[in-house]
Amino acid sequence: MSEAQMREFDLRVTKNEREVERLEGLLEALVSGNGEGLETSGLADKELSDLVNDNKKLKYRIGILKKSIERLGGDSRGGGRSTMSTESFQDRMCNILGQLEGIFTQAVKTAYPEATNPTVQIQLSKHADYQCNAAMALAKTLKKNPREVGDQILKSVPPNPLIAGLELSGPGFINVTLSKDFIRQQVSNVVLKGVTPPPTTPQRVVVDFSSPNIAKEMHVGHLRSTIIGDSISRLMEFLGHDVLRLNHLGDWGTQFGMLIAHLQDRYPDFASQPPPISDLQTFYKESKKRFDEDEKFKKRAYQAVVKLQAHEPTHIKGWEEICAISKKEFKKVYERLGVVLEDRGESYYQSRMEAIVKDMEAAGMLEEDDGRKVMFAEGADIPLTIVKSDGGFTYDTSDMACIKNRLYEEKADWLIYVTDAGQAQHFKSLFACAKKFGIYNPDKTRVNHVPFGVVLGEDKKRLKTRSGETVRLVDLLDEGLQRAEEKLREKERDKALTAEEFTRARDAVAYGCIKYADLSHDRTRDYVFSFDRMLDFRGNTAAYLLYALTRIRSIARTAGVSREAVVSEAGKGPVVLEHEKEWKLARTVLKLPDVLLRITEDLYIHPLCEYLYEVSTVFTEFYDNCYCVEKDESGKIVKINMNRLVLCEATARVMEKCFALLGIETVGKM
Ligand code: ARG
Repeated sequence: MSEAQMREFDLRVTKNEREVERLEGLLEALVSGNGEGLETSGLADKELSDLVNDNKKLKYRIGILKKSIERLGGDSRGGGRSTMSTESFQDRMCNILGQLEGIFTQAVKTAYPEATNPTVQIQLSKHADYQCNAAMALAKTLKKNPREVGDQILKSVPPNPLIAGLELSGPGFINVTLSKDFIRQQVSNVVLKGVTPPPTTPQRVVVDFSSPNIAKEMHVGHLRSTIIGDSISRLMEFLGHDVLRLNHLGDWGTQFGMLIAHLQDRYPDFASQPPPISDLQTFYKESKKRFDEDEKFKKRAYQAVVKLQAHEPTHIKGWEEICAISKKEFKKVYERLGVVLEDRGESYYQSRMEAIVKDMEAAGMLEEDDGRKVMFAEGADIPLTIVKSDGGFTYDTSDMACIKNRLYEEKADWLIYVTDAGQAQHFKSLFACAKKFGIYNPDKTRVNHVPFGVVLGEDKKRLKTRSGETVRLVDLLDEGLQRAEEKLREKERDKALTAEEFTRARDAVAYGCIKYADLSHDRTRDYVFSFDRMLDFRGNTAAYLLYALTRIRSIARTAGVSREAVVSEAGKGPVVLEHEKEWKLARTVLKLPDVLLRITEDLYIHPLCEYLYEVSTVFTEFYDNCYCVEKDESGKIVKINMNRLVLCEATARVMEKCFALLGIETVGKM
């Protein structure tokens, strides 16, 4: 887009926004009946019935203007979806379903301006590609004949490069046939330009995930948060959002008293010499034991907390040392899993907590309760404890300061918190109180708690070691590596691959399987952790899917066709598609953008895994029916179907993108 065009667009956006404001003002005046502003517009002279009619029209126009702002890339809130002119799908993959919904919503509004907020859903159809069922519900509300309504909507759909044909069927269904040229071009584009994100309105998103607690071992709950949060972040980044990934470490609190007191005894010179603590968990257990059994130690621990909170330098130093050791351990896990995030623990909010407590107090938000200061709000089943009876702050206080920091200092449009479902109450109360306090407005910003269930052992009980302890994450990852190695040796992959290829395949399979097993389940359910099941090379597992991808990748390679040659073939124009299975695969591959946009609505990742599995299944169907490379009896290649290699390449790219969004490393060979 040229600069002049950009400026033109900017002007139009501003103009539209102003117009919306003006119309909304008028609308409000009409509804509240105070007539203000009506004189200047000349509307005051009109009869009341005219006003009511105008009201309807204004609402409709506001809708259109809002849509047009959205299309022009102006400010718009909501699910982040927007419609685009189809010419723009040269550079972005088309979210076909979403676009059709946009087109049909518009058609309904054109045909029936009196219909308020019509929601149009498009479904897959047995008789065509898609189907619009809007006429039935609309006819009911408008008391009209559904077939006539369907016909009116159909006639109001403007010519569109996406759609080849529309047909009215049954009581008023509209069958939609997609343009074949459009599909062919989109497939070629995937090969030419890669998998590109569908249109969205960029937002600033904070994703709070992983968030283990200092000096305590990271456990499987944190593993789930890490895997799910990383995948959500990857998806948001791909869609063009500005993502801040935050590790809300539990790095502040009374437990540091006993840790520092114990540190002083065990490593008196810790201030000058970093303590050589190799196992922080044992260190934690030791200090906890002393705290529980030794009254004198307990007292010292309390004093240490007070000194730490007063920022006494040696206590701060001790705290820093302990945090550093812990973070180093966490980092090892993140590196193994390929997860990047920024540490910003509870301690970061100290001064902000003090400030916000004062503000809350001044605003009359806090109530005395047995020496504590608590906050109630509608929708909060349990009140937040903002100040403890000893004057200290809590997890609730830090999250209140944190939500404000993210909305105002970080200027986020959308906050996402990924934790176990056990914290659902906490976040419900937090959001309700933040709303009541006036720092969070659901109309302006979006906040989501993304809860997940418990990891179970094969005995269907909470995952534990044989001796009944919580499973250490590193041990789990190590076991994964070992089991993946055994599995690959069993399949004699060590004979087919170089040592380096073998190690890469082992790591990809091990970590990929652990991640995929987690992400492919409905996150709110508890799930059974089973290496046997996740390493199965059949069915919906990462092991199978990674292998399927290497098979697709090997088709062109073994035929001696380079990736460049396939790309250049795609550059010749829309790929030729003839066989029914070719069409089916093409349509499946192009569903990705709609799958991704749906995830932004409910933040469930498992449909992406289901989709990935569907792609591989549909590919197998295609491959069983359509020769890509034809050979004679002696095995000599007699014909290479380049269009099919283009389709293979598009499939591989889409699968690779899915893996990337799931945080799973792919390999060329395994
Ligand atoms: N550290 C907490 C835990 O281990 C999770 C923190 C989640 N984030 C938040 N802002 N509360 O359960």
